[in-house]
Order: sequence, then C-alpha cells, then structure tokens
Amino acid sequence: MNSSTANAHETIQWIGQTDGHLRLIDQTLLPEKLKEIDCRDIETVWEAIKILRVRGAPAIGIAAAYGVTVGLNAVDDSDTDAFWKTFDESVDYLATSRPTAVNLFWALDRLKTLAKDLREDHGGDLPTAREKLLAEAKSIHQEDREMCHSIGRFGAPLLEGVSGVLTHCNAGGLATAEYGTALSVFFTAQDQGHDLHVFVDETRPLLQGARLTAWELMQRNIKATLICDSMAAQVMREQKVQAVVTGADRIASNGDSANKIGTYSIAVLAHAHGIPFYIAAPSSTFDLGIESGDEIPIELRNSQEITHGFGRQTAPDGVEVYNPAFDVTPAKYIAGIITERGVISPVTRENVVAMIGG
Ligand code: MRU
Repeated sequence: MNSSTANAHETIQWIGQTDGHLRLIDQTLLPEKLKEIDCRDIETVWEAIKILRVRGAPAIGIAAAYGVTVGLNAVDDSDTDAFWKTFDESVDYLATSRPTAVNLFWALDRLKTLAKDLREDHGGDLPTAREKLLAEAKSIHQEDREMCHSIGRFGAPLLEGVSGVLTHCNAGGLATAEYGTALSVFFTAQDQGHDLHVFVDETRPLLQGARLTAWELMQRNIKATLICDSMAAQVMREQKVQAVVTGADRIASNGDSANKIGTYSIAVLAHAHGIPFYIAAPSSTFDLGIESGDEIPIELRNSQEITHGFGRQTAPDGVEVYNPAFDVTPAKYIAGIITERGVISPVTRENVVAMIGG
C-alpha cells in the first residue's frame, strides 16, 4: 500500500441519503490491510465499536451518531410510534457498546435532544425527522474535523524548541473525523516546518500505537520510532523526548483524564523526569458532570486480548487476567489540556470550567 492510497480513505463516511449506510475503515486489520466495511444494520455498527473496528473517543461518537440513523432504516415511515420506539432502542443499544469514552454518550445525547424537539414539533413527519437526525450526525462529524484542526493550532506552539516527543495509543485521524488530537499537534507542527521525532509506545495489549500511530506518522513522513511501553522510562532518561502528548477518552471537571491503559504511568514518568505531559482533546471529551476521575467508568475487556493476542497463546490456560482498557491520570501530572478553545493550564477545576463550561 502506498501513502496516496491510504490518504484517499476516510475513517468514517456516510454513504447515500437518509436510507444510506455507514462506511468505516476496519482498524482491526491495519496496518496489514486498509479495508473498509459497510454497516447497514445497527448490530454491525455496535459490533464495529465493541471490537474496535472503529475506535478512539471522537470516532466512536461519530460512528454512534450515524449508527442511530442506520438503526432507523429498519423501520418505515408508516408508523410514528414504531419509528420513535426504534430511535430510543437504537440509542440505548449503542450506549452499551463501550463505557469509557464520553464522546459516545455526548453524541447520543445530542441526537436525543434533537429527537425530543422533533417529536414535539412534528412527530408524525418522519421523512423530515430522518433528514434532521442525519444532518445532526453529519454536523457532529464536521465539527470534529474543525475541532481537531483547532487543537493542532493551539498545541503546536507548545512544542517550540522540542525535538523529540512521546505519544501513547492512537489519537490520530483514525481516532477522529480526521487529523486527530495529539497527532494533530504533531501534524500542525510539521506543516509549520517543525521537524519532530515521535517516539510511539506500542500500547499493549491491542497495539494501537504500533499498528495505527506508527502507520499514520509514516504516511505523513514524520520521523517515528516504535518502542515497547516498558521502554518509555529509558527513553526519557536518555533525554530523547522533551514532551509527551496523548489523547483522552473522558476528562472530569477537575481535569483528571482517562486515556488508554498505560497513559497514567507515562504521566508519572514524565513528572519524574521534569518533562511536560499534555493531553489533547476536544470539548466533547469533557464530562463536567463528574467531580473527579474516580467517577469515570473503566472498561474491562476480554482476557483473551492478553492471553491470546494476535493469533498465538502467550499465557498458560486458565491463568487469571485483569484487563482494564483505560486508566486515569490525575490532573496534577498534566501540564496542560489542549482543546479547540485554547490550552487549559494549569489544570485546575476553575480553569477547566472556565474553558469548557460556557
Ligand atoms: O480503546 P481505544 O483504541 O478506543 O482507545 C483510544 C484512546 O485511548 C485514545 O487515546 C483516545 O480515545 C483519544 S482519541 C483522539
């Protein structure tokens, strides 16, 4: 595969009109295969989110919003009650796909708010309701593109004088509408003529860093060096990186930030080495309804991801496994949160609410 082939593809697309379908890059196949899947029913959308064909907090939200429209394809325009019942069931069903990324619930809530108005205004005019719900999903998609580019513009100046950076998991175009959050900072710096060397944690157990981030950086000719997660301390000790930037899945009102498992240890390591640790995330990733990271639900995933990763048994039969997919980095370790509205720094409840609460 060459880079022009890869860049010609979009992470998420809506194909057709209101009776259309969702098309996704199947991220479980990368980097070996760049292949898209078409989701024509809600079960396929749910499964795509659950098994990480589409993943990354903003991308999950966008896919879920389109997923509701896909769900409505199962019902025709002759029965208003059946239509809105299917809407409610679709929202509830998609909300069970993954628990941690708040963007999923944020996107579904946007559709629920719109649906409430539509029901009151003209609950019986179902073709119009379909159009408006699809338009809202498209707005969520388009707004995410804009937020990602804006995050890059606010984040790039933070890397002035930095030659090496570290990132964890994948917070790139594959995790968003396009361009990414953490990777948007690197892409924007590169567009501004700043050559960066990005150290990429492989990100156990599902290797989003190795499979997706390294791939995205190479597509854009950014110097990328892949390391195992356990090598980050040594890379910092050798002063190969002067900053860390990662994404987030949910940020509490005090700035505590959940992201892919392993992020917390990177933040503690960065703190120990005097290296600034930044989170890059859009306002849709904040959950101001919770006081601290203690309230963030942490997804527990299948033990087989650890015992049988990528086609081979790597642990004895019957071994007990603990597989939390995310961890929470306390705000005190975060030098700044780069949002589409500006950089929150220092990361305090007051500053979070001032930037995001309005
Ligand atoms: O389990 P994943 O691959 O969905 O986890 C993704 C992450 O943790 C990302 O860093 C986060 O969603 C930010 S994406 C811009």
